[in-house]
Amino acid sequence: MMLTDGYWQLVSIKLTFNKMTLMKKSKDNDVDQLTAQDFVDEAYRLSDEEDMLVFYRKWAEEYDAKMMDGLGYCSPRLIAERLHAYLPDKEAKILDIGCGTGLTAKYLHDVGFSALHGLDLSPDMVDVAGKRGIYDGLKVVDVNLPLPYLDHEFSGIISSGTFTHGHVGPEPFHEITRIIRPRGFLACTIHSELWQKEGFEQTLSALEQSNTLKCVYREMGRFFDDGELEGWFCVYQKLG
Ligand SMILES: C[S@@+](CC[C@H](N)C(=O)[O-])C[C@H]1O[C@@H](n2cnc3c(N)ncnc32)[C@H](O)[C@@H]1O
Repeated sequence: MMLTDGYWQLVSIKLTFNKMTLMKKSKDNDVDQLTAQDFVDEAYRLSDEEDMLVFYRKWAEEYDAKMMDGLGYCSPRLIAERLHAYLPDKEAKILDIGCGTGLTAKYLHDVGFSALHGLDLSPDMVDVAGKRGIYDGLKVVDVNLPLPYLDHEFSGIISSGTFTHGHVGPEPFHEITRIIRPRGFLACTIHSELWQKEGFEQTLSALEQSNTLKCVYREMGRFFDDGELEGWFCVYQKLG
């Protein structure tokens, strides 16, 4: 039997279609099969902004399930409780730095805080956070750059899981301090392995020595319910 060009074209289209289906399945399986711990390990290895954007684009929709159900991620709740303890005024304007999908602000919202703002580098994470409907304002912003907020704009700043491996170093603290009102609070987690190594201790001590910030709380805690004590939970008050 003679096989026509048309026949071979059809075979080729079918093979391409099958290959695309397989590629999609294998991509979906990657997402499904990666354990929650693999997910954190991969997050801690991110090396640049491009990696960060690709990683959080891939995971934005599944982030909460992986972190909460898969790993018992408790850092957002614990740091929100710390800020609440020092800042009981529910109308206080609060900025969530590296807000991700909004887990930290969710806890503040649940106890009645009403003026919540957030920023994050990843537009995909910001999209998911926006669907919660709890933020007054959300911005796609790199916290390492000058922040698009007024001096003393916020009574409270909160950040969970952002000052960690492969993410953000201590460089933004001067700029963050600029946008806190005098007597306002900054509550954040900082991975303990980076505290000295990446210069968090040095940067925050310098801000204390210049009477800009005062540390009112700092304790080691867990980021995950069954995990090790791996992070500093800090609260600083802005002086002046
Ligand atoms: C581990 S997630 C934490 C998200 C959320 N705070 C939580 O605890 O679930 C870290 C977040 O930091 C954000 N991030 C990383 N680098 C950043 C940067 N330079 N500026 C702003 N956000 C950044 C990531 O996009 C990601 O959403």
